[in-house]
Amino acid sequence: MRTRALIAAELRELLDPDPLPGVEVTWLPSDVGTPAGPHAAIVPLLSRGIGAAELAGLPRLRIVANCAVGVDNIDLAACAARGVVVTNTPDVLTDATADLTLALLLAVARRFKEGQTLLDAGAWTGWDPRQLLGLELRGATLGIVGAGRIGRAVGRRAHAFGMRLCYASRTPQSTFELETGALRLSLEDLLARSDVVTLHVPSQPDTRGMIGAAELARMQRGALLVNTARGDLVDEGALVDALASGHLGGVGLDVFAREPHVPEGLIRHPRAVVLPHLGSATVRTRRAMAGLAVRNVRALLAGEPLVSPVLVGDGRRR
Ligand code: GLV
Repeated sequence: MRTRALIAAELRELLDPDPLPGVEVTWLPSDVGTPAGPHAAIVPLLSRGIGAAELAGLPRLRIVANCAVGVDNIDLAACAARGVVVTNTPDVLTDATADLTLALLLAVARRFKEGQTLLDAGAWTGWDPRQLLGLELRGATLGIVGAGRIGRAVGRRAHAFGMRLCYASRTPQSTFELETGALRLSLEDLLARSDVVTLHVPSQPDTRGMIGAAELARMQRGALLVNTARGDLVDEGALVDALASGHLGGVGLDVFAREPHVPEGLIRHPRAVVLPHLGSATVRTRRAMAGLAVRNVRALLAGEPLVSPVLVGDGRRR
């Protein structure tokens, strides 16, 4: 029997015509549940949960090659128990995601949404020196929560804009500190000192809900929050309240706790710039992500080293 693989149908146009030569590929649309079958590989989008139930239907599965850097849609413990390999798509999306983070930061700091709304309503009466005054980035403090690849790429960009940087991270990043002058702080101190806080940690049990009412209250009045990582890092109810009360001066969000649901209190708020999870949405990056996910499958099937493993076959995390 030929080896069989499931690949998200939405990736088809981003991939070469025959991405897994010799393998029988089933293109799986994201609105269709994960079928049971003898597939050896699955390349899912981040919106597809892969847990014990899906694994039970795929008894010959050897690899979940997630087409995302985050792997929070995958039950890693269940994969480990079954000896299923998990890979992700790091690096290729770092620049695109960092660019989008800066776009959101600028959009919120300079009040794009209110300006756009004024024009859309035909209510602009002309240049006014008092109108829609925002935060100037030079000299403002950016707090980066999580100094991994994307957090550091955001920091380098913000440094070029003249921002002062601080970061909270388990691991000190000495090269990053030298490059940008970033100061490592506890999360509590970072929240209290930053004009803008930006989140760049993965969603996992110890980070989910890490920004709740107490953390938002620690932020300076009028401070801004940007999140291009995962929506469930933040308690969205508390966020809506902090915006509504004016404690937060604005938010820039690309991710939400229950996508595609976006709370009304965010969509409607003039100081909330919200995007439909576009962090990695450039032609080059999306092609690279799809290509990398499939390269991991090819490597596994050929018995070659995986390109970007998260979990290897013996259940160890990389
Ligand atoms: C996008 O959010 C990703 O995890 O790749």
